[in-house]
Amino acid sequence: MYSHSRASLTVLTRAARRLARALRPGDLVLLLGPLGSGKTTFVRAVAEALRVSDPVRSPSFTLANIYRGDLIVRHLDLYRLETLADDDALALEEYRDDRAVTLVEWPEVGAERLGDPSWLVRLEHVSLLERAIEILAMDDAARTRWEAAGG
Ligand SMILES: Nc1ncnc2c1ncn2[C@@H]1O[C@H](COP(=O)(O)OP(=O)(O)O)[C@@H](O)[C@H]1O
Ligand SMILES: [Mg+2]
Repeated sequence: MYSHSRASLTVLTRAARRLARALRPGDLVLLLGPLGSGKTTFVRAVAEALRVSDPVRSPSFTLANIYRGDLIVRHLDLYRLETLADDDALALEEYRDDRAVTLVEWPEVGAERLGDPSWLVRLEHVSLLERAIEILAMDDAARTRWEAAGG
C-alpha cells in the first residue's frame, strides 16, 4: 500500500513517522529484509516518533527490548531463535502484549506464535544509501489509520 523504490534515510524516516502515527496498542509489526537493509533503523525512527528517549539497539542477547514513549514499544529480534533452547522458543507466546506495539526483526522463525500481524514492512538494498521500502496494512482498521496518518 505504501512503497518507495529508492528511499533515502530521510524518506525511510518519514515513512516510519507516519507508521508511528497509525500504530495502536496491540499492533504487531513484522520487519522483513536482509542484514543491513534498515530494520533496526526503521524501528529506531518509529520509537523516536513515539518519543522514546532510550537508545534503540538490536536486542541481540535478549529476545526483546522494551521502551516507553507515547506508547509501550517492544522490539524483538528473532534472529537467534533457531539456536535458542526449545523452552525459550516456546515461551514466545508470552511475548504477546495487547498494551504494547510490538516490532519484530527476523520474524521468519516463530513470529506466527505472536499472533496475526497488523503491518508488514519490507526492506531491500538498492544502493549504499537507498532502500526499497514497502509498508502493508494487513486489515481494514490498519488501512484506515494509515490513511488518516497523512503523508
Ligand atoms: N536509506 C536508508 N535507509 C535505512 N538505512 C540506511 C539507509 N542508508 C543507509 N543506511 C544505513 O544502513 C544501515 C542499516 O542497518 P540496520 O538498520 O542495523 O539494518 P538491519 O537491522 O536490517 O540489519 C545503517 O547503518 C543505516 O544508517
Ligand atoms: Mg537489526
